[in-house]
Amino acid sequence: MNENPPDSRDESPDTSFVPRLDVRQRAMLAEMGVRVWAPREDASARQATEPVQTDRAAAAAPTVAVRQRADASPQVVVQASPPPADLPQVPLPDGVDQMDWATLQVTVASCRACGLCESRQNTVFGAGDTQADWMVVGEAPGENEDRQGEPFVGAAGQLLDNMLRAVGRSRSGVGTQGAYIANVLKCRPPANRNPLPAEVAQCEPYLARQVALLQPRLILAMGRFAVQALLKTNEPIGKLRGQVHQYRGVPVIVTYHPAYLLRTPTDKAKAWADLCLALETVGAPPGPVSTKD
Ligand code: URA
Repeated sequence: MNENPPDSRDESPDTSFVPRLDVRQRAMLAEMGVRVWAPREDASARQATEPVQTDRAAAAAPTVAVRQRADASPQVVVQASPPPADLPQVPLPDGVDQMDWATLQVTVASCRACGLCESRQNTVFGAGDTQADWMVVGEAPGENEDRQGEPFVGAAGQLLDNMLRAVGRSRSGVGTQGAYIANVLKCRPPANRNPLPAEVAQCEPYLARQVALLQPRLILAMGRFAVQALLKTNEPIGKLRGQVHQYRGVPVIVTYHPAYLLRTPTDKAKAWADLCLALETVGAPPGPVSTKD
């Protein structure tokens, strides 16, 4: 699954959003591979006018203080898509927009609205507390998720869990310390190919209903396909980061997909800046993380 390369906008570092970090958050950031850095008081004015770090320097020492930074010319990776699946097979039932959680989950489990139902082992509905006030939207299940029926269970999922913990949330947390995780597509595209527009369009009512039921205070959209599905735009992530967007009245923060961050660890600092913007937007949760387990 490819990620849009970041754009090459040249902006000065902005450290105003760097929150106070406790020991646990620092440990989590270390797990994410993000080096915490904050300017000395007397250096902040100078820093605003200093040239932006080079990519090589950033690779050696990514920092949390950079919200947007110039990048080298992006390399566009083009992935060939197989021919479209036959659509639709069995249309979505009426009334998805009225369903409760249980009915929606059962409906997704038996969905045959696109060709992905032929190759899936399991549908992947979502995970987390249905009272959580953050929602994470990813792209589509991969091989492990397809096998286990749960989103983000592979290496990218571990990074996502670390990212969430760094901001006091987890998929097992409840309410203001939880995060409900869902994907745009509920079925795995064969060989992890990119989702097709028709598949996204077919599956979107399920995600829309999940958002309506959850009524999150914030959506974290991870990766190009989540962003495109929610915001209906083809703009690259690099252009959309750093702003608060809206999906049906819910604030949306755009960030990179964890799988992309595993391949491009130098961009973890940007992802941390995005998490900080999310925290700024809805406020940090009170107290330590509480979990159901
Ligand atoms: N990538 C996603 O976008 N979602 C998953 O569930 C797993 C990997």
